[in-house]
Amino acid sequence: MRAPASDLPLTLVEAQIVAREVAILDRVTLTITAGSPTILIGPNGSGKTTLLRVAMGLIPLSSGRITWGGRETSAPTKAAITFQRPTMLRRTALANVRYALAAAGTPREKRQERAAELLTLVGLAELGGRPARRLSGGEQQRLALARALARDPTVLFLDEPTASLDPHATKAIEDIVRAVSARGVKVVMSTHDLGQAKRLAGDVVLLHRGRLIENAHPAEFFATPRTDEARKFIAGELLV
Ligand SMILES: Nc1ncnc2c1ncn2[C@@H]1O[C@H](COP(=O)(O)OP(=O)(O)OP(=O)(O)O)[C@@H](O)[C@H]1O
Ligand SMILES: [Mg+2]
Repeated sequence: MRAPASDLPLTLVEAQIVAREVAILDRVTLTITAGSPTILIGPNGSGKTTLLRVAMGLIPLSSGRITWGGRETSAPTKAAITFQRPTMLRRTALANVRYALAAAGTPREKRQERAAELLTLVGLAELGGRPARRLSGGEQQRLALARALARDPTVLFLDEPTASLDPHATKAIEDIVRAVSARGVKVVMSTHDLGQAKRLAGDVVLLHRGRLIENAHPAEFFATPRTDEARKFIAGELLV
């Protein structure tokens, strides 16, 4: 289950996205390697979602370079992403996961069992028969994670997966992140929860106004931030 050499390291060199004459990603240089999760933090609008979408190959750069295991031309081969506001198919929760399994090439006869396993993994075993669009925000977020895992990714991008979850569900997601990470899946995840960043991160990336401010080990980042922005952010004083 190690991320294939073909996708990692993921490197960004002076990566820039300009939208309406504003650099929403401003010359970001970053290398993402296999190992513990990379956690993206930063105020609202700092570029976390944009960076995840770029890393997934969903939006092209205005300038700069991105490479996946040295390849510049194609997106990662075995990656999955979940969004802050997931879009559910107009079907049951279980059918949403079955659909993702079908799309990932899982043989038909294995889909039902695997879909049930994935729902159990994210704590939705009881809700498989519910229309997915009727699930609560937190339940939909967990369903999105189950669908992402259906692809058996080796790189998993998660955009604020615990943003609308209660403490119990948050812990469940963190446990899943740890479990998949221990199996060799590279997780790249954004969060506003600094405690979560401390708990999960192999490295922390702080963004502010599209710029990469710091990329450091969490112990180092939280104990001895090198920049003024990081010190303010940790103190809750860095505004958009
Ligand atoms: N397609 C677009 N066109 C114009 N501006 C955009 C576009 N996409 C994003 N932006 C802007 O880029 C900035 C970064 O957005 P992004 O969604 O990456 O931030 P974020 O760090 O994920 O914020 P949040 O914590 O609120 O999720 C924001 O100011 C946003 O309005
Ligand atoms: Mg975002």
